[in-house]
Amino acid sequence: MQVKTFEEYQQAYTKSVEQPEQFWEEIANHFQWKKKWDKVLEWNFKEPNVKWFQGATLNITENCLDRHLEKNGDTPAIIWEPNDPTEDHRVLTYKQLHDKVCQFANVLKNNGAKKGDRICIYMPMVPELAIAVLACARIGAVHSVVFGGFSAQSIADRIKDAECNIVITADGSYRGTKEVPLKSVIDDALVQCPSIKRVIVLTRSRTPVSMIKGRDVWWEDEIKKVETQGNVECPAEEMDAEDMLFILYTSGSTGKPKGVVHTCGGYMVYTGYTFSNAFQYQPGEIYFCTADIGWITGHSYIAYGPLSQGATVVMFEGIPTWPNAGRFWDIVEKFKVNILYTAPTAIRSLMSFGDDVLKGKDLSSLTKLGSVGEPINEEAWHWFDEKIGHGNCPIVDTWWQTETGGFMISPIAGVTKTKPGYASLPLPGVQPILVDENGKEIEGNGVNGNLCIKFPWPGMLRTTYGDHERCRTTYFTAYENLYFTGDGCLRDEDGYYRITGRVDDVLNVSGHRIGTAEVENAINMHSSVVESAVVGYPHDIKGQGVYAFVVSPGKHGNEELTRKDIIMTVSRIIGPIAKPDKIQFVTGLPKTRSGKIMRRILRKIAEGDTGNLGDTSTLLDPAVVEEIKNGAL
Ligand code: PRX
Repeated sequence: MQVKTFEEYQQAYTKSVEQPEQFWEEIANHFQWKKKWDKVLEWNFKEPNVKWFQGATLNITENCLDRHLEKNGDTPAIIWEPNDPTEDHRVLTYKQLHDKVCQFANVLKNNGAKKGDRICIYMPMVPELAIAVLACARIGAVHSVVFGGFSAQSIADRIKDAECNIVITADGSYRGTKEVPLKSVIDDALVQCPSIKRVIVLTRSRTPVSMIKGRDVWWEDEIKKVETQGNVECPAEEMDAEDMLFILYTSGSTGKPKGVVHTCGGYMVYTGYTFSNAFQYQPGEIYFCTADIGWITGHSYIAYGPLSQGATVVMFEGIPTWPNAGRFWDIVEKFKVNILYTAPTAIRSLMSFGDDVLKGKDLSSLTKLGSVGEPINEEAWHWFDEKIGHGNCPIVDTWWQTETGGFMISPIAGVTKTKPGYASLPLPGVQPILVDENGKEIEGNGVNGNLCIKFPWPGMLRTTYGDHERCRTTYFTAYENLYFTGDGCLRDEDGYYRITGRVDDVLNVSGHRIGTAEVENAINMHSSVVESAVVGYPHDIKGQGVYAFVVSPGKHGNEELTRKDIIMTVSRIIGPIAKPDKIQFVTGLPKTRSGKIMRRILRKIAEGDTGNLGDTSTLLDPAVVEEIKNGAL
């Protein structure tokens, strides 16, 4: 399945374009199916309707667990490093992980879970999170993992949208010196969610929690019940290749986050293939992905992709800067990590502490590095390359999205020549195209455009949960017969791709995707706010910061307090990850005569680029621009 040389990559790429069905069929044969497909691919981007491996049946957990047992049952699947370095780490072999997944799958069944049910997971980064995810997949329930940084309101919105009937959570979670009361956040969310019949609570921090009779049960008690029943095995549910595997909510440029839907067969093949190739994973290598399972990176490249390939994955509960900024490097040294996959925001943050923290750390086990989530600036790229990789480790800058399921444009470690800041070349099976505003293809090299994909790949989203029309209009109507990524992109003279950032109203703050409309809606809920406009601005560590222009005549002269109140409101409505970094109070927003906010102008002001604001003649009240410019933060 792995391409080993650049020539092999080119051959694989050509084949994937000329004979896509044969190409993916051969890859799919490397996986375990209960029944093989009748047809490899059926598609149109109009509706859209995309089906891979039709007629095939499988269970992804048999590929991630059972099939490794005979030869590699004792190979570590997950090495877990706790938040507190003085607490013991844990190792789960494939055999142990298999048994725990089966056990918890039986707990889910005992609690009424069935194939097709939607189950919300809100948990810390502990092995039980991976176990919960896989247990859902084992019984054919659809997981919807919500990242721990989201508020009760965000959880409630997601639970209602997916009509979940079970929540899996923990009493609390540790993040550096902080303790987050997860169960209490869930309790607040559930006031709005009558569909939830059961809450399964793992003990982690043993912080006091309310346990409601008839609804809430402890994870540990439920496991004991399964043990007394002697119910250790759990047969893997037979799933159709196109049955739903999970929903993951992500932000767009309008409205509430949408539930991106991935299905069993194509997603399995795609994440396994891309993991194996981009990182050139070899048996025995230790792979550390610093993402949280609450995001797509954790789904695809902590859980499903690596496990389907029998890899050993390091999973970390804490944060990179606690107890000090050398934590990642301690983990690399402790477990002799070979492959480190992290985000530019973490690299920039760790860089800012200086090189002293690196002194005495043994990073010699590292052979490959990876980056994901946002454009990596050259300074961070070089620091990563020199200080962490000692110039010997290829940097795999993987460009992809929640919607794409897996890597799309990325170097193949040791095979593709890398260039700082470039995601480089499309992986086999990926057909990128750059278009101008009118949807016309921009051909040749040395060009800029909007990045689209013109042919389906197995890991692509199939729909947005409960609203297929939204999927169509968000991704498939901007340009006819193309999937639109929302990203701008440069293709240089060598045909190398460099992602330049979102061209829509989506921000990328510390690698977290945040819709400006969502933040505006949250700010506008504050009682003294009339209206607001949110844009991004360059931020040294976070990549982008959140800049809010707020019209708030009722701020009673106490700007600082109102600012804090607004931040608190955003935290409550969305979660701490969406808090504005800057709030500028203004008397009005620059609007066209038809009432549309001219964000272009606000973006320039937020970026500190006020020299040339472009054409302001269509504004209803040009004076407002002067005022905003003068008050810029
Ligand atoms: O703008 C691109 C940026 O992150 C967006 C996708 O965000 P999300 O769905 O949360 O997934 C993040 C993890 C895959 C993209 O539209 N992005 C992601 N990876 C890169 C990137 N931008 C530049 N370079 C990357 N390697």
